[in-house]
Amino acid sequence: MQFWNRRQFLKLSASSAGAILLGQYGAEAFPSRQISSPVSLKPKDGLVEVELHARYEKINLAGGQAYVFSYNGQIPGPTLEARPGDTFRIRLTNNLPQPTNLHYHGLHVPPTGNADNIFLSIPSGESFTYEFTIPKNHPGGIFYYHPHRHGLVAEQVFGGLGGPFLIRGELDEIPEIKAAQEQLLFLKDFALDASGRIAAPWHMAQMLGREGPLVTANGQVNPTLSIARGGLLRLRLLNASSSRFYRLSLPEHPLYLIATDGIPLSEPIELRELLLTPGERAEVLVRGEREPGQYPLLSLPYNRGSMGMMGRGMMGQGMMGQSDWDATRTLATLTYSGQVSPLPLPKKLIPVEALPESKTIRRFDLNHSMAPGMGMVFLINGKIFDHQRIDTQVRLNTVEDWEITNTGVMDHPFHLHTNPFQIISRNGQPEAFRAWKDTVLVRVGETVRIRVRFQDFPGKTVYHCHILDHEDLGMMGTLEVEPRT
Ligand code: C2O
Ligand code: CU
Ligand code: CU
Repeated sequence: MQFWNRRQFLKLSASSAGAILLGQYGAEAFPSRQISSPVSLKPKDGLVEVELHARYEKINLAGGQAYVFSYNGQIPGPTLEARPGDTFRIRLTNNLPQPTNLHYHGLHVPPTGNADNIFLSIPSGESFTYEFTIPKNHPGGIFYYHPHRHGLVAEQVFGGLGGPFLIRGELDEIPEIKAAQEQLLFLKDFALDASGRIAAPWHMAQMLGREGPLVTANGQVNPTLSIARGGLLRLRLLNASSSRFYRLSLPEHPLYLIATDGIPLSEPIELRELLLTPGERAEVLVRGEREPGQYPLLSLPYNRGSMGMMGRGMMGQGMMGQSDWDATRTLATLTYSGQVSPLPLPKKLIPVEALPESKTIRRFDLNHSMAPGMGMVFLINGKIFDHQRIDTQVRLNTVEDWEITNTGVMDHPFHLHTNPFQIISRNGQPEAFRAWKDTVLVRVGETVRIRVRFQDFPGKTVYHCHILDHEDLGMMGTLEVEPRT
């Protein structure tokens, strides 16, 4: 066992140009190992009971040891599996030196009480038990738990906290999908200092959204994903990074998208690449239809914008902002092994209903500015988040269109809690296919129209930028869903 040190980071960060070639990280430092999967907890008699201990401690990470934040000493945290109708009882013990809490990203459960209530704060040294039931008609897919204590979200998520939910549903019953080999990929970057501790960010990195050069899939650097010739691999992708975007591509292998943000599509969509911004999930099928060999799962360059002069040149040696946006990285390696008689792709998945048109259009402007004594702040409709204020009030069981415009200089992935939505258009261009989402990228200069139905759960919830530094620096608003009278 070894600590991550600066030399290894340099090795990692020097890997940009030749990244398409395998083994560029140096085989000694990163032997490509079979991917491991997080411990999975399954329901007993309809109940999933879990103890999560949030801790800052030394754990094994990416072939070395590091002091990071984790749940139960694991990166990612345990996978919590259930079926619609099952109940989760999650006892969170906060052994961090600061307050924390939990959010159940993408799950359609109450945002109040001891359910998905992000307004709770669990002090250091205390425990809290969350409990909620997955509605019987909840879609099956991949969801995400992570801390959501305003002001500390980026620090805690970047530090390592987070884990997947798998809700088993109709999609899992489709024969072609059942036949596929399933693999979760929890994508997470880290920045560690010379002693193997989470590197402290500096101001600039926070404004850009902190990123780190150690990029892991299920806590491993470039693990091996096996596929049989003729086989089908179901990749269940989750971007658990606080700021990093992943522009995914697998040479010679189209990605067949079957679900977005945990909810199935009506039919597979063939893609050459897939952009996954923080908080987003996607499921793709990969066919083992090429010459047996090794193929890198790449993250291609993507420039998510800069603060003008605070670009690459000023990022310096800290490597905490998006200093390597023009690098191509290998996240994992697809390796052929064995052969099966060719498995077909499914033709149809789960129908996606069309939401009725809405007469209400609300507008949200994403931007930033300088605030006296605070430095750069991030704003929605000119305001910094204030948990005392209700920014938006809607009525239960109504449908609204929200038009989100980015007038700033960096991309902002916009996320809404509690209810999923559909993307209607981008800059007036209708969206190519109908899908459910809970996070949508709004690029610099773009206007995205989404349609959302507020269903089942009255109460206070939030929407925010999922570059979690931006959220902590103010880019969040409170939504109140009022019961119908
Ligand atoms: Cu995954 Cu409010 O966030
Ligand atoms: Cu969320
Ligand atoms: Cu943002």
